[in-house]
Amino acid sequence: MPLVDLQRLPKHVAIIMDGNGRWAQAQGRVRSVGHREGSHSVRRIVRAARRLGIDALTLFAFSEQNWFRPAHEIAALMELLRDYLLSEREELLDNGIRLRAVGRLPKLPDRVRSVLDERIAETAANRGMTLTLALSYGGREEIVDAARRLAARVRCGELEPDAIDEELLDAAIPSVDVGRVDLLIRTGGEQRISNFLLWGAAYAELYFTERLWPDFDEEDLYQAIAAYQQRDRRFGRVALVTGTEVAKVGE
Ligand code: FPP
Repeated sequence: MPLVDLQRLPKHVAIIMDGNGRWAQAQGRVRSVGHREGSHSVRRIVRAARRLGIDALTLFAFSEQNWFRPAHEIAALMELLRDYLLSEREELLDNGIRLRAVGRLPKLPDRVRSVLDERIAETAANRGMTLTLALSYGGREEIVDAARRLAARVRCGELEPDAIDEELLDAAIPSVDVGRVDLLIRTGGEQRISNFLLWGAAYAELYFTERLWPDFDEEDLYQAIAAYQQRDRRFGRVALVTGTEVAKVGE
């Protein structure tokens, strides 16, 4: 196991779970088989993150852009999501995991939405770890929705335009209710953010791995966290060593 310093864990870890389709294709199977295998990885990684003591885990489970996939693939993903929500009830409750969801949730089918709402309500008081599922989610869409809500408050005279600052936007963007992202992991070999958590990941450390999501396991998570702990997070400032400036950063 890579050395993980439990005293310096990232508080908020977010994951782009990519590579399900390629995993299935490599075995001559249909894409939905890869998604099913991917849902086993979700169980594994949620459990591992909870055991480590991560405060918040956000998973990109279905993007706004995923609605453009073939109808049978969307249906398979929605069924997997429902199965997950049904089967993980005890796991969430027994481990003090609070479930929440971000994204344009009214677009989800009612049979998913109803179980989702149930789990969210049942786990609302849990304090162990917050698991956020990004569903029908897009980072730009989330910022657009926040801008609309703020504009409505300005129109009714409740808010001055000049009062809009980062703090107010933080409060208007649901994905950062659990804090800004510290570590953003993407599996599957691509190196892009793909419209995930744009606001909250502004200063996230990025970790890309070739591993396809269905193969991503506890060891891979520890590896990503160990790599994060090697990074020097400066947030656009300068590194200080006993009060002396040693590096300027061009962020
Ligand atoms: C990307 O793989 C993954 C998705 C579009 C959805 C992620 C869904 C799951 C992991 C399973 C269900 C989720 C939960 C929470 C139970 P891809 O199909 O884009 O892979 P590819 O790049 O290889 O085609």
